Formats: sequence, C-alpha cells, structure tokens
Amino acid sequence: MDIQEIKQERQKWLTWKNIAPLRQALESLPDVTCNVVYGDVIKIKTDLPHEQILSTAKMMMPWRKGPFQVGDVFIDAEWKSNIKYNLIRKHFDLKDKKVADIGCNNGYYMFRMQEDEPKLLVGFDPSPLYKTQFDFINHFAKTDIVYELLGVEHLEFYEQKFDLIFCLGVLYHRSDPVSMLKSLYRGLESEGEVILDTFYIDGKEEMALCPKGSYSKIPNIYFVPTIVALKNWCLRAGFERFEVLETSVTDVGEQRKTEWIEGQSLEDFLDPKDVSKTVEGYPAPQRVYVRLVKKRKEKR
Ligand SMILES: C[S@@+](CC[C@H](N)C(=O)[O-])C[C@H]1O[C@@H](n2cnc3c(N)ncnc32)[C@H](O)[C@@H]1O
Repeated sequence: MDIQEIKQERQKWLTWKNIAPLRQALESLPDVTCNVVYGDVIKIKTDLPHEQILSTAKMMMPWRKGPFQVGDVFIDAEWKSNIKYNLIRKHFDLKDKKVADIGCNNGYYMFRMQEDEPKLLVGFDPSPLYKTQFDFINHFAKTDIVYELLGVEHLEFYEQKFDLIFCLGVLYHRSDPVSMLKSLYRGLESEGEVILDTFYIDGKEEMALCPKGSYSKIPNIYFVPTIVALKNWCLRAGFERFEVLETSVTDVGEQRKTEWIEGQSLEDFLDPKDVSKTVEGYPAPQRVYVRLVKKRKEKR
C-alpha cells in the first residue's frame, strides 16, 4: 500500500462508532470566522452558545493537551502544554520552514507555532479522537495546518521532506527506538533538524531502564535511557550532531487531574511516600530535550 492509499484507508477511522457521533457534532457547528489569540491559552473568541461549545468539547474527552478557551468554555486539559512549549521556544525559528510535529496530539503546539509563520506545518498522529479535537479547534481557527492520521513509521514515505521535525513525548512509546530515530532522519531535508524529548534516567553509563509492565502506570513505555545511551541511539540512526537543550522534571503543576479527563493523573503515578519514585519504584519521570542535526553545514 502506498502512502496515499494508507491515508485514504485511515479516513475511514473517522467513521468508527465511538468517533462518528463526535464528527456529527462537529459538522453541526455553524461556519464562523473567529478571532484567535495563540498565547499560553489558545483563545477563540466566538458568540456561539455556551451549551453547544461545552457539550461538543465534552464529547471529545479526554483532553490531554491544552489549555484552550472557546468562547467562555475553558478546556483545562490534563497537561499544561504551554510549560513544555515555552521551555523549548527559544531553541527554534520556524519562519518559512517546512515543519512537522510527530505525535502532535490535538495540535496544541502547532497552533502555537502559527506565530512563526512556517511555510508548511504538518501534524502526524494516528489517533482519530485527537484529530477530531484538532478539527474542533481548527473549525474556529481556520489555519492551514495539515493533520495526517499517520504514525512516525510513515514519515519516510511521506510526499514531503521537512526542515524541522518535532517529536515530543513519543520515543519512549516505541519498542524499537533506533528504528524510530531512523524514520525521523529519513523524513528530513539534507540539513534538517529534529527537536525531540524523552524520559531519561540519571547516570554516566550507556544504559536504559526496561520497565517490566508499566512505568509511572503507563503501560507502553519500553526504554528509558541515560542521556549518553540516547546519544548513542541518535548517532546510530545517522545523525551527525546531538545537542542537549533542556532537562525538566514533570510536576503536578504541569500534569494533573482536571474535569476534562477521566481516571488518574501524575499524582496517582508517583509513590506517595517518596515522589522521587514512580509507584513501581522506578526513578520519577524526568525529560531531556535534544536537537539532532542530520548533517553539519559545510563551512564555506
Ligand atoms: C505522550 S503523547 C505526546 C503528545 C505531544 N507530542 C506532547 O509532547 O505533549 C504521545 C502521542 O503520540 C501519538 N502516537 C501514538 N502512536 C504514534 C505513532 N505511531 N506515531 C506518532 N505518534 C503516535 C499519540 O496518539 C499521542 O498523541
């Protein structure tokens, strides 16, 4: 199957029985042109009735990434994604670049990236729910952002190569991290760059933690490397340069239970007696942000 056939096939995911009612609610929204402010809270000014906005947005729960404000409805997502975005903001300039956000979720970062005026902005995420949240916000914002229901594994076959690829919070979900890094490498233009973040563990050894069942109650976490092990993966994938940009520890100011998710959040994932550990007894989540350069620029 080529990439166009995969895209067509995946459009059918929007007709799944848990997604179809959300699409209907989306389609019943009137066509409106709105003023949008792309700040820490993505604010959409609209006169649409509160009840219609609230009921449509609630149908699309859980909202993991945000915050958004649509009319007077504040979508207080589980993650205050503005914290991550603001941390990395100083490390890039997207003006006139072809940019991809891999694992873009509902597109929060891509909406923020509008201010830089990239030439092209494409999000990849295979979740029809998150695409529907994106379409809800974009119904009002009317941006040119392209949202593909594709995964990182499709990137190298995509019709377009990118100058800058963001891949935030995805690597630890992949059972073969070096393959994923190779996919990112192949998705880039010849002097392109990746900005990536992942969980890491402390240590000078070239090692990774391999959680038995779950890590921080997240079932699909395969490897949590030391920074030096992460560097080795990236060099093996072909990148010529590896630069650490930032490190951070996630706290309950950034990720917490709100009325826009069901179930648990970070406060339930850490050991209540020692928050430096997860409930499984592993080191608590901390993140490293890196820049990967495909090929160093030739000195002229
Ligand atoms: C932990 S969230 C990270 C979201 C966002 N990038 C961030 O950093 O806040 C992981 C995202 O990866 C998406 N995802 C799942 N499988 C994927 C795949 N094969 N390729 C790309 N993204 C995937 C999920 O739907 C989810 O939105």
